[in-house]
This record gives sequence, C-alpha cells and structure tokens, in this order.
Amino acid sequence: MLARRKFLQLSSLGLSSLPFSSFNNKQVQKPLVLSTWDAGINANKAAWKVLRNNGRALDAVEQGVMVTELERNCCVGLGANPDRDGHVTLDASIMDEFSNCGSVAFLERIKHPIQVARKVMENTPHVMLVGEGAQQFALSQGFILEKDGLSPEAEKEYKKWLEKSEYKPVINIENKKNQQAFAPTRLSNGDWNHDTIGMIALDAAGNLSGSCTTSGMGFKMRGRVGDSPIIGAGLFVDNEVGAAVATGQGEDIIRVGGSHAVIELMRQGLSPEAACKKVIERLLKIKGDQAKNIQAAIIAINKNGEYGSYCLQKGFDYAVCTSDQNNRLVSAKFLI
Ligand code: GLY
Repeated sequence: MLARRKFLQLSSLGLSSLPFSSFNNKQVQKPLVLSTWDAGINANKAAWKVLRNNGRALDAVEQGVMVTELERNCCVGLGANPDRDGHVTLDASIMDEFSNCGSVAFLERIKHPIQVARKVMENTPHVMLVGEGAQQFALSQGFILEKDGLSPEAEKEYKKWLEKSEYKPVINIENKKNQQAFAPTRLSNGDWNHDTIGMIALDAAGNLSGSCTTSGMGFKMRGRVGDSPIIGAGLFVDNEVGAAVATGQGEDIIRVGGSHAVIELMRQGLSPEAACKKVIERLLKIKGDQAKNIQAAIIAINKNGEYGSYCLQKGFDYAVCTSDQNNRLVSAKFLI
C-alpha cells in the first residue's frame, strides 16, 4: 500500500523509474541521503546533486559535509569555537562501500578536513593521521594552510568563555518546538548551537558510504579527540548491511562503539531505528543519572533503503532526502 502510494506520488513528479529496485526480494528505496541536525538540509542538497546524477555515495557524502565545513557553525569547520587554549582543531572521517576508511584528528588550519580524510583513505596505507602529521600530509596533497586565528564569532564566544573558563558542554537542541525544554545556547551572532555533521547515503547503484566532520566540543582540553574520527564509534559502513553515523558527546559514543554496534544489530535483523534505540539504551544504562546532562544520537540506513534514528534527549532532528526530492527534517525519537 505504502509502495503504491509512493509510486503514485513519484509518478506525478515524473520520477517513477528512479526510486525502487529489488534487494533480497524487498523494494529498495534509493538513492537516499541522511544527515544530522538542521545543518543537514543544506548539506543534503549538495549530496543530492551527486546522487541524482547516479553519482557514487562516497562523492555525495564528501561534497555534502563540505558545505557545512564552510558555514558559520560553532562545531564544524575553521569558523568553529576553539579549544580552551584558543585553537580550532578539527576531526573528520569517511568510509566507502569497500570498507575503505580514512580519518584525521586534531587537524589545524585546513579548510576541509573531510577531503584530507579521503586522501588518507585513498593515498596512504593508513586509516588515521593526527595533528602535525595530518597537517603535513594535507600540505603534501596540495591543501592550503589557512591563516591562524578565530572567526569573529568564535573570538567573541571564546572571550566570553574565558571569563569563567568552565568546561561545561551544552546539550544541543535544534528541534525548535522543544527549545524551551533544554535552554539551548544561542551564539552571540544569533546562530543556534550546532554539532557534528554526519552524513550517510545509499546511491542509485545500491552502495553505501558515510562521512563525519566536527571541531568536537567547544573549549575542550587541547588534544581532545571525540568519536567522529574513530571508525566504529562516530561512523561505520558495511555495504552488505548498512551505514550509521553518530553525533553528541563523543566520549560516551566511543564507550558503546556506537556506529559499529548499530551495524551489528542491523545485521541481526533489527530495523535502523530499533538498532539505534538499543545502542542509545546501552549508553543510558552506563550513564545513569548523568545521562540527563548529555546528548547522543545515531542515524542509520540499511541496505533496503530503510532509515531511522534514536537519541538520548528530546530535540535531535536529522535531515532526510529521498528520491521524491523532498529534503526534510525529521525529529528523532528519544529516551529521556
Ligand atoms: N561528536 C563529536 C565529538 O564529541 O567530538
């Protein structure tokens, strides 16, 4: 019934030949792209340009998050809030349909860490490069060293933070309906606080890829690295099963091996939403009462093009773009 309704909807858009094919006798919805938070809407648009032209999911997830790396955002790209010593340090990872993966961490002064992560995957025998070594590698690949220093908005936030110098991660809430519930941070330039951008996609050929890029937690200790560049924690792709990417407090996502755990649960037959829920429940069990002070969320796609998400706190939205070209925000279900 649902498939028929979808077919009718797509026929009216002249897209009926695009969206479904068969895998394991199930209809597969493809292409498809998901990304975290409301910044995902713009990121999905760039990814969709690749996917709608039968492009590879890997190119889509790279080009999608590059958009967010350039937007003003507290937690992604060189304009982001710095660590407690006043330096912006960036983490990113990428994984393709062949289980190739690459990541960078503690990378400074490079505009697109996701592109460097892809170069690590494609042009080195390694999976992860960090700090000075990652920067040196980026320069050897032709990336430009950007000027040192903070964006005007980050400079302002940092000066404000220095008044107390307290490390207090803020729970990110972007679901506008729920904003009152957790008093989200509004940056001095009027932007809402954002978080890691993570993106997963299924392309027209039925292949999966994922990406993830972040400055991590604002005002973190120098050298702190979260889940995003850790393959299996922040991101995991298994082309036979699905793809998953996480956002929120990295330390806790690492503790449950978040994204890899979701893939393994999907392998056992759980839907993307049920798999994400189980992993967030594990995290809640570990954190107990402290869970109310953190946010953690995972989004997932399976090989059939089914997708879902779960988060700890109310207020996590993710952006979904499917073959009907309807790029929309979906509110994830939550535990507490
Ligand atoms: N999830 C991003 C971080 O904790 O660094």
